[in-house]
Amino acid sequence: MDLVQLTRDLEDLRAEALGQVAVAPDSAALEELEIEVLGKKGRLTGVLRGIGALAAEDRPRVGAVANTVRQTIEAALRERGAALRNSELEARLRLERVDVTTPGRPVRRGSLHPSIEAMGDIARIFAQFGFVVHESPEVEDDRTNFQMLNIPPDHPARDLWDTLYVDVPGHLLRTHTSPGQIRVMQAMRPPIRALLPGRCFRYEAVDASHGFEFFQVEGLMVDEGTTLGDLKGLLDQFAHAMFGARKRTRFRPGYYPFTEPSVAFDVECLVCGGSGCPACGRSGWMTILGAGMVHPVVLQYGGLDPERYQGFAFGMGPERISMLKHGITDLRLFMENDLRFLEQFR
Ligand code: PHE
Repeated sequence: MDLVQLTRDLEDLRAEALGQVAVAPDSAALEELEIEVLGKKGRLTGVLRGIGALAAEDRPRVGAVANTVRQTIEAALRERGAALRNSELEARLRLERVDVTTPGRPVRRGSLHPSIEAMGDIARIFAQFGFVVHESPEVEDDRTNFQMLNIPPDHPARDLWDTLYVDVPGHLLRTHTSPGQIRVMQAMRPPIRALLPGRCFRYEAVDASHGFEFFQVEGLMVDEGTTLGDLKGLLDQFAHAMFGARKRTRFRPGYYPFTEPSVAFDVECLVCGGSGCPACGRSGWMTILGAGMVHPVVLQYGGLDPERYQGFAFGMGPERISMLKHGITDLRLFMENDLRFLEQFR
């Protein structure tokens, strides 16, 4: 091995490598080529192995040639690499092009169901008076739904609640949220300020104002010295917050087995303002809830001493409130899941 031969080998390697760089089809092939030529075990190292056989004064010369060869090849690799990466990027961009002029797919925005919306409004108003929301089961026992609310078996007052019974003896789908009164009284001591929203069920012939499934919101307050005056003041505040501060309200005598005395609570007709129209049956008033002082027997069933504690309770239908507020004329709309109806509550 002599200087001339080694120099020629290096120049051959350069020529061959440059030729290969020039035709490398892609950057992956180029990388392989780089390792094969310039890598630790590559062809350049292979050629330079012969340097050991040279005379000492020839070695630096070969080293210098080897360096230029290496630099030339490196420069060629860089240049070809840049070109390849460029065209590869362009190819990818062409392939993955996004048509920004394509119209977007609209996101469907949901909205609160009007029953839920009304219950939220009711809960927010009563929360300002310290009422806390509680839950109570939808499948009730006969005792809690009726008997402990002062409605014994076979009592004619049961006719007020057309009942759906379930297969478990003594159990039914609650006909109102009032059994929640019993459950709250049994679970906590006065002062009690509870709000019980929830689904109720009745064996009902369905029409524009009757459903077999609907919501109620029950309210219960129990403390020492609670009076009908407290109930009236609270419900007035509620009606004004819900329907407007200037709306007139009135209380009428009512009947419920579990309250004594019982009242019906009316707001002036939201359609005609009190002069009388078809919406209010020409009376000028719309009934929004039933209420009364908790019957002593009910307090006792709740585990409370009626000599010491008094309470009031009220129950309202959020659908009815929603119908009055929005001018909805058919209760069935609330359970039909028709988007044309539901989408109006945004
Ligand atoms: N539970 C009664 C109903 O369903 C409403 C009510 C609740 C009346 C609380 C008085 C007190 O009609």
